[in-house]
Amino acid sequence: MRDILEQLELKRAEARLGGGQARIDAQHGKGKLTARERLDVLLDEGSFEEYDMYKTHRCTDFGMEQQVFPGDGVITGWGTINGRPVYVFSQDFTVFGGSLSETHAEKICKVMDLAVQNGAPLIGLNDSGGARIQEGVASLGGYAEVFWRNVQASGVIPQISVIMGPCAGGAVYSPAMTDFIFMVRDTSYMFVTGPDVVKTVTNEIVTAEELGGASTHTKKSSVADGAYDNDVEALIEIRRMFDFLPLSSREAPPSLPTADAPDRIEQALDTLIPDNPNKPYDMREVIARVGDEGDFFEIQAGHARNILCGFIRLNGSTVGVVANQPMVLAGCLDIDSSKKAARFVRFCDAFNIPILTLVDVPGFLPGVSQEYGGIIKHGAKLLFAYAEATVPKVTVITRKAYGGAYDVMASKHIRADVNYAWPTAQIAVMGAKGAVEILYRSELGDPDKIAQRTKDYEDRFANPFVAAQRGFIDEVILPHSTRRRVVRAFEMLKTKKVTQPLRKHDNIPL
Ligand code: HXC
Repeated sequence: MRDILEQLELKRAEARLGGGQARIDAQHGKGKLTARERLDVLLDEGSFEEYDMYKTHRCTDFGMEQQVFPGDGVITGWGTINGRPVYVFSQDFTVFGGSLSETHAEKICKVMDLAVQNGAPLIGLNDSGGARIQEGVASLGGYAEVFWRNVQASGVIPQISVIMGPCAGGAVYSPAMTDFIFMVRDTSYMFVTGPDVVKTVTNEIVTAEELGGASTHTKKSSVADGAYDNDVEALIEIRRMFDFLPLSSREAPPSLPTADAPDRIEQALDTLIPDNPNKPYDMREVIARVGDEGDFFEIQAGHARNILCGFIRLNGSTVGVVANQPMVLAGCLDIDSSKKAARFVRFCDAFNIPILTLVDVPGFLPGVSQEYGGIIKHGAKLLFAYAEATVPKVTVITRKAYGGAYDVMASKHIRADVNYAWPTAQIAVMGAKGAVEILYRSELGDPDKIAQRTKDYEDRFANPFVAAQRGFIDEVILPHSTRRRVVRAFEMLKTKKVTQPLRKHDNIPL
């Protein structure tokens, strides 16, 4: 009996060595952790239950029968993060470069199926040379099995991808269909075709980092939702984010105990809005002062910085925040910010996360490039996402809410539940200057008349009361009481129920 137990330990030790010590050293030499070390950081100590440790490939082409590594380049199973279950796979670059074989894919599919069946998130740690070249179409079939499951799981369990090495070719499409992608700076990259193919086809010369590194995908392409300096930082931040998320769409978001009083007064908010309406202020300040303990997990912080999206807690419970940022492009809506916020709103709605919207928006960004780029369709994404969302929605207008952007930013008309405005709010079709220039074009030569007209317009519309008189605003609140007001509003909305029209699915303008 003792022999058998020892044999098991030997088998396990062999599997744990992956592609061997030399390749592990090479992985460390690149500043990367191994697949197992990554899981040690991600999961609670001692919580990992590994499956399919001895599974091997079945390929006999190209001498592959001589090269068999138990586990076949991916470590799979489940564990816990701060006590809550999560399913994981972690690709092992030391075994065939983490490339995906038919059996490697089967292992990933097994944990995906378990995650959906048992209702817990899936986190994939990607570090792979792509399709196992020796296996050909069997590998492609394996990818497609993963893709299909990504779609089936979408909106059922949160799916998070962390790119911690290469991720190229069709392999990018599994992460692309998950809810969030995070990358590690300098050691990870994603592209559909690499620098060599790009050079051959288009004559453009770029490095892998320029083409698909973390900076490119968090700032330019918006493929990735965040980037971190190294493996450890990335995994610790994923743990932090995980605590904000519900396990599945069947569950409410988690609630953590907090020492932060729900009725905390924030006097500083009373003086945050500058006297000059054209002067910016930092909307992050409002988010930090309203949420529990100033904790804000921001999504896509480096892209479309004119809108802020992320998670906070209010009296312990997760809330998604969408907020115009007056510091960037005056907080206007454009193509990028509309797409960014629309996707975030849809994630929140899919997973029962209530949405707090903070509004200071002068309108949509004018311009030929915006129109040619399809701002009509992209702006409609955000309008559509807010209108279809049935989770509790609370809106606070801090300053400008002009034109169509007023409607879009979770207005009462598209079924926000509670709409507040600060006394500094200005809710109108457009700013006073623009309005007067259109209404009184014939008087433009007379600066005194125009100044009077502008003042008249401001007196009439540069306030929240015209909207409040119609019930579009439920109450004009003192900025310092914002936290108390929104906490209470979300408490009141905890029992919200809406019935939806029967249909297969809607047709959001993609
Ligand atoms: C089999 C692979 C492999 C692959 C790497 N290896 N990629 N084995 N299939 N796709 C092996 C190498 O042979 C090597 O084995 C080990 O992994 C490490 O690779 P190196 O090249 O030494 O590492 P590095 O210099 O860091 O370069 C990493 C790399 C490079 C950039 C990923 O290996 C590479 O370009 N690989 C091929 C990538 C590729 O073209 N994949 C197919 C893409 S098409 P030893 O034994 O020496 O350790 C695709 C389609 C998906 O993925 C479609 C889905 C629909």
